[in-house]
Amino acid sequence: MHFQCPRLTPVQSRFTASFAALMMLGVIYWSLSHPHFAYAAELEVDGSGQSRGGEDHNWHRIQQQGLEDDVREHRLEYDGLEQGGGVEETVLVGRAVAVTPQAISGNDAPNMLNIEAGNTTLWEYSNELLVSSRATTGPGLPSELGQKRDVEPRHVELRKRQESSDARTIYVSINTCLQPTWNGTGVQTVAPPQLILYVSTESDNMDLGPNGRSQIVAPLQEGFANVSVVANGVWYLSVHAPALPDGFVGVWNYELAVSINAFYHAAEPADPFLYLVDTDIDAALLVTDNLTQADASSSIYEDWMSLRPPFTMFAANVNHTSTMGIMNSYCGWSNARQIAAVQGDPGGLDSGVQMGMITRGLGNKPKEQFYMTNLNSSSIYHGVLVMDGNSTDSGNGVVGGGGKVWQTVNWTTKADGNCALLFNLTFCDEVAYAVPSNPNKYNITGLQRLYDNYTSTFYQNFNYSLQQIPCNTTSDAQYSLAKNCTDCAAAYKQWLCAVSIPRCEDFSIPYTAAPYLQRRNMGQAMFDTGSTLSDEVLYHNYTPMTKAPTLGGSSRYNQTYISSLSSNSSRNPMIDTTIMPGPYNEVLPCEDLCYSLVQSCPSSFGFGCPYSGRGLEVGYGKRSNNGTITCSYLGAVYDISAADTTIPPLFKALLFAALAALLVGFA
Ligand SMILES: *[C@@H]1O[C@H](CO)[C@@H](O)[C@H](O)[C@H]1NC(C)=O
Ligand SMILES: *[C@@H]1O[C@H](CO)[C@@H](O)[C@H](O)[C@H]1NC(C)=O
Ligand SMILES: *[C@@H]1O[C@H](CO)[C@@H](O)[C@H](O)[C@H]1NC(C)=O
Ligand SMILES: *[C@@H]1O[C@H](CO)[C@@H](O)[C@H](O)[C@H]1NC(C)=O
Ligand SMILES: *[C@@H]1O[C@H](CO)[C@@H](O)[C@H](O)[C@H]1NC(C)=O
Ligand SMILES: *[C@@H]1O[C@H](CO)[C@@H](O)[C@H](O)[C@H]1NC(C)=O
Ligand SMILES: *[C@@H]1O[C@H](CO)[C@@H](O)[C@H](O)[C@H]1NC(C)=O
Ligand SMILES: *[C@@H]1O[C@H](CO)[C@@H](O)[C@H](O)[C@H]1NC(C)=O
Ligand SMILES: *[C@@H]1O[C@H](CO)[C@@H](O)[C@H](O)[C@H]1NC(C)=O
Ligand SMILES: *[C@@H]1O[C@H](CO)[C@@H](O)[C@H](O)[C@H]1NC(C)=O
Ligand SMILES: *[C@@H]1O[C@H](CO)[C@@H](O)[C@H](O)[C@H]1NC(C)=O
Ligand SMILES: *[C@@H]1O[C@H](CO)[C@@H](O)[C@H](O)[C@H]1NC(C)=O
Repeated sequence: MHFQCPRLTPVQSRFTASFAALMMLGVIYWSLSHPHFAYAAELEVDGSGQSRGGEDHNWHRIQQQGLEDDVREHRLEYDGLEQGGGVEETVLVGRAVAVTPQAISGNDAPNMLNIEAGNTTLWEYSNELLVSSRATTGPGLPSELGQKRDVEPRHVELRKRQESSDARTIYVSINTCLQPTWNGTGVQTVAPPQLILYVSTESDNMDLGPNGRSQIVAPLQEGFANVSVVANGVWYLSVHAPALPDGFVGVWNYELAVSINAFYHAAEPADPFLYLVDTDIDAALLVTDNLTQADASSSIYEDWMSLRPPFTMFAANVNHTSTMGIMNSYCGWSNARQIAAVQGDPGGLDSGVQMGMITRGLGNKPKEQFYMTNLNSSSIYHGVLVMDGNSTDSGNGVVGGGGKVWQTVNWTTKADGNCALLFNLTFCDEVAYAVPSNPNKYNITGLQRLYDNYTSTFYQNFNYSLQQIPCNTTSDAQYSLAKNCTDCAAAYKQWLCAVSIPRCEDFSIPYTAAPYLQRRNMGQAMFDTGSTLSDEVLYHNYTPMTKAPTLGGSSRYNQTYISSLSSNSSRNPMIDTTIMPGPYNEVLPCEDLCYSLVQSCPSSFGFGCPYSGRGLEVGYGKRSNNGTITCSYLGAVYDISAADTTIPPLFKALLFAALAALLVGFA
């Protein structure tokens, strides 16, 4: 796997080299430009008339603290300086360091710096930057993304204050890029503490940080914070690093940005905007939410579809602990990630992540798809949808150039190896989930071809039957007032794809963890080991049909896993005879697919659905509202509440017909 070097290394070394020089310069600068500085320091409260600089700063401190000695002690602590020789001298140097701010280098520019535990860095945003002309931004994405919960910028009320000619709203944002690392014993279970951002609420106020005044305190959350205020004159901000708890070593590195245009960094911590479609043992398929609800004929739809994939993703195994504490930080993720989709590599040749624009899924609206490969099996991963800068440009000078991060999504890769993630089929083009497979016999393309051929052959037969129906006739001559042949064909295709290409889950998942799963093909040997399940399991009592007749010596009620067709075969016989995956679990097709088929097609076709207690439970599943995929339907994604499909009771009572081989009652 390709790992990019943390992009801050040069900063770190440059910082170390220049820090001593900076400190010296600071002392010299202050003693030259403020000759009365030392004097003020000795007299403590004399310089209170000054509006800016060290004097005012001191005055306030003294007012707050009362005692001269306290002030000195506090300042020592605050400035993070060790007690050297003479106390007076140390205080002087300490103050010079504390009040020598770093300059914010520009609007929409990343200001990167290392910070040690306990230290506070002061930043100055000059009036030249504040009054400079606003940037012209690009056209943006084809349409606004459907943001569910906007993250309210802090202290918005401040922005409502009238902006005057010399006052403007400034947008301050920060990303943690690197954090102290764990060197304690055992596995790291907590993130290192978060940095704290302080933004002044008045001009020329350098008294920021813990114990500061007139400031907005914004502790970072998962490596991110943003604040907007109306500023005028010279404006100050500071970043403070808390003390390090036991077990952590090292420094933080952060990226601080100020802009008169918009926030440089963004996070959407309550909206993933990304859905898991399915996984197999080494891959995961994810899609964004609908990028627009515009119609296929609209230009917005076309613009989205012709876009170079605008989003990328970062992901990591959850046991990769360096992602703890930076989940809302683009910069943090870009350093801590194990896997990164790369815009310039949509085929995923280097990154292992393929990206593309698709319309598959409910509603057939534009989405971006991520197909992540080379994952470890039986592992929990987490990943985030991100936007690098504004999606076409990033970094210094770009409005929003620091990137955007959405909420983390978790997924688990499969364990057994006989479920393969399949999508991009020709006929069942809405299929995108893991299907029963056997890597010893079929690679993914072979499997695609096999299922494609199987389903299209069946559909062809159906089409011949449909042509016997007077479809293209006046409405009163049609077979139904509510449904026509188009509806029937669509319902049949949906049902056929979902039923003949079963959705596969690990056989190793225990019944208690997922009671909605249906065991299939249990008597067959496992494709890889060649071993079969023990007799103890195979001859275990099994009651597939709770309402099966019990009289007259019928064996339909009391069965075993090996004797019941529902547990010892696949509903699609081609799977058992041709693919031979061994035992697997099936996520049953949703029962509404069957009801919709019966409802949409001419009754002469004889379609029917099994009764409850007489095959329904082992043939079809029910949708859930908790985000779990408890039954299979085309376009299913995890963690979206299922569309409320209400089925008229009439159809639940329809007769079970043994017309199609696929509809076979597992009796
Ligand atoms: C942080 O404070 C320590 C003393 O606690 C000091 O030695 C060090 O130079 C400071 N580091 C920075 C980056 O300001
Ligand atoms: C991103 O920013 C660049 C530079 O400001 C601009 O040219 C481009 O149009 C922007 N892209 C979008 C999608 O707005
Ligand atoms: C962690 O690092 C600190 C500082 O370098 C050191 O004192 C401590 O012994 C280290 N702990 C372990 C468990 O290595
Ligand atoms: C997309 O929009 C459709 C309706 O057009 C909706 O049913 C679906 O839940 C939305 N989200 C996803 C991820 O498909
Ligand atoms: C993390 O999980 C992977 C398997 O997914 C394992 O190989 C690796 O050893 C684990 N790493 C740690 C630090 O536990
Ligand atoms: C994802 O996993 C993390 C732990 O890595 C957990 O804190 C979080 O709640 C999980 N999110 C969801 C939506 O399950
Ligand atoms: C899906 O199929 C199209 C063409 O049929 C191909 O260009 C694309 O690379 C395929 N995508 C994946 C992820 O296989
Ligand atoms: C898949 O298997 C077929 C033969 O069954 C072979 O021709 C093809 O090259 C294989 N494809 C890949 C990607 O390995
Ligand atoms: C396609 O399917 C039909 C019937 O299911 C079968 O007879 C035929 O051999 C299959 N062709 C291929 C190439 O698999
Ligand atoms: C009905 O007519 C349309 C075009 O008018 C045609 O595409 C379709 O195949 C016809 N359906 C049947 C079942 O004949
Ligand atoms: C079938 O009915 C649907 C509405 O249910 C309608 O949109 C469609 O145009 C009809 N198709 C034909 C061929 O009449
Ligand atoms: C089914 O088996 C149970 C015990 O295994 C027995 O009590 C019951 O009578 C049997 N029912 C039928 C219909 O064979």
